[in-house]
Amino acid sequence: MATYFTQQLLLWNQTANHRAMPWKGESDPYKIWLSEVILQQTRVDQGWAYYEKFIQAYPTIQDLAKAKDEKVFKLWEGLGYYNRCRNLLHTARHITNLLKGVFPNTYEGLLELKGIGPYTASAIASFAFNLPYAVVDGNVFRVLARFHGISTPIDSKEGMEVFNTLANQNLAKDKPGVYNQAIMDFGATVCTPSNPDCVTCCMSSKCVAFNVNKVNQLPVKLKRITKKKRNFDFFCFNLNGTWMLQQRGEGDVWNGLFQFYVLEQDRMPELSDSYLATVLMHQFGVPQKQWKYIGADKNPKLFKQILTHQTIEARFICIELSKMPKMLQNAMWVKPKQMSKYAFPKIINDFLVTFHNGSALE
Ligand code: ADE
Repeated sequence: MATYFTQQLLLWNQTANHRAMPWKGESDPYKIWLSEVILQQTRVDQGWAYYEKFIQAYPTIQDLAKAKDEKVFKLWEGLGYYNRCRNLLHTARHITNLLKGVFPNTYEGLLELKGIGPYTASAIASFAFNLPYAVVDGNVFRVLARFHGISTPIDSKEGMEVFNTLANQNLAKDKPGVYNQAIMDFGATVCTPSNPDCVTCCMSSKCVAFNVNKVNQLPVKLKRITKKKRNFDFFCFNLNGTWMLQQRGEGDVWNGLFQFYVLEQDRMPELSDSYLATVLMHQFGVPQKQWKYIGADKNPKLFKQILTHQTIEARFICIELSKMPKMLQNAMWVKPKQMSKYAFPKIINDFLVTFHNGSALE
């Protein structure tokens, strides 16, 4: 027998849920997986365009498996956390080459895939295969914490268990896909993080948080993540109209993306002539007469990118070289028109957009 919560949710879904999204009602596991991976990175309104771009470029998992890494990175550009993109490619190739192109159709089989955790496995299992696994994402935590009045922190071990159990107890076992989509839509449109629509909510009369006036205090989160701050000086070298780029190596979130030469420091030094002269001489052996600072002023704009565990602040220092430094002979030198072919971290794209508008790149 379905709980009051489940009945009300499904009724709301049938009568008042007008949320349309391209992956809704989809049963192709590839498309569901793609949408979920994208939606882990961004909000629905932004993710929508990425989803359509990907499906157009790679309509099947075989198409994605065959794609060149660089092309896929380029499509992913702006979503961040490139490890997710790498896992996407890895898993597409794994399924295509080792599983004969057939997506696993059990929860356990899905969990074995790289980049697929309990949330994504439940989403694919329920949406594609109608298996009874409840999704537990931010929307679900919020809706359940409020309706049941639970103040156990959602990021504690105990909280995970409490919410997981509750989510599975409330799951409509005969239509898990419909239920899972409905609870996410309800969280996104009615039981929203701020200003939830309790006035029209179909279950407010039995919602504990509403009845004890605690809607804005739930759900509870234990940790606020403390972010590490990092300072980057990107040196944008220009020689005969071409720009020097390098590809980032293993070991960080930007692995495989392109960048200008970067210097990371504990503190952002003042952008003085002596700082520039020292860097150019010490790092590249370039004497003063062979370079010129070509920024608009000596106070370049500070660009900022906020990631989960770190905040990055960056300056972009444009330097015109009159001679190829020996140390940079094997670097990539790219014409302005070719720049758009490369995938950059968001912070560099932000700079390129500003720079373009100042028309200095072309
Ligand atoms: N966020 C994550 N998955 C989603 C989905 N299937 N629909 C709406 N929002 C989501």
